[in-house]
Amino acid sequence: MICIFLFLCLITVTKLEDPCFTTKLIDDWRRSVANAAITGVCDNFLEEGWYRVISSAGELMPTECPIGGYRCGTTSPFWLSSNNVTGSLYPHNGNTVNRTTCRATFSGNCCDQTIDIRIKDCGCYYVYYLKHTTGCYSAYCFGDQLPCPDGLTSSTGFTPGCVNSSCSGIGKLKEARPIRCIMSCVTSRLFFPNKEAAEGDTWYLLVSLIG
Ligand SMILES: *[C@@H]1O[C@H](CO)[C@@H](O)[C@H](O)[C@H]1NC(C)=O
Ligand SMILES: *[C@@H]1O[C@H](CO)[C@@H](O)[C@H](O)[C@H]1NC(C)=O
Ligand SMILES: *[C@@H]1O[C@H](CO)[C@@H](O)[C@H](O)[C@H]1NC(C)=O
Repeated sequence: MICIFLFLCLITVTKLEDPCFTTKLIDDWRRSVANAAITGVCDNFLEEGWYRVISSAGELMPTECPIGGYRCGTTSPFWLSSNNVTGSLYPHNGNTVNRTTCRATFSGNCCDQTIDIRIKDCGCYYVYYLKHTTGCYSAYCFGDQLPCPDGLTSSTGFTPGCVNSSCSGIGKLKEARPIRCIMSCVTSRLFFPNKEAAEGDTWYLLVSLIG
């Protein structure tokens, strides 16, 4: 009996130590690379550790340079560099990888500073081991979508697939809308995680999934 109890304890401890169960969250859509409005996000005081990202704007660190900076709600955004990486940037099968993030600056430099991070695959999400940046405003980017424009809505409240909620269009389109929204969100997350927001292309994604 004690044996079983200890065994369960061990499992619990192991689980708690697994970075996948981190309680540190980053929940801030302004970090989206599609956000070009400066809103003062700064990771200068970010506590070092494993973070899970939760955002309807997307939860992956962008893998393309936000040229010229002034994106992700900050002046000098950090993005995930594929320099010196062979194979896939993101890990699979529960693995952890070491990766390098680069700082993009207003002067057009895509990598004037680097910070080493780690990424772990947790099945349906990733966790990131992050260290603080130096100087404000500089922060890590996550996601590539934006909130729906005023008057429009989607299943997440974010692009892609924002539609006029008071749409008086054809009945067929109305019926198709929820599926279209969900599918486009799912497919864009799964297959085009780092694609720039492609508004209005939702039908295309759905059709390509079926046929
Ligand atoms: C890639 O490797 C070179 C040589 O080791 C190094 O100078 C450079 O900073 C690395 N780039 C990145 C983005 O890690
Ligand atoms: C990855 O980084 C960690 C922490 O800095 C280090 O202990 C480990 O050796 C690195 N792994 C590889 C494969 O470079
Ligand atoms: C939404 O549709 C209604 C009715 O067709 C229209 O009056 C309104 O301007 C539309 N709003 C937006 C934001 O497109």
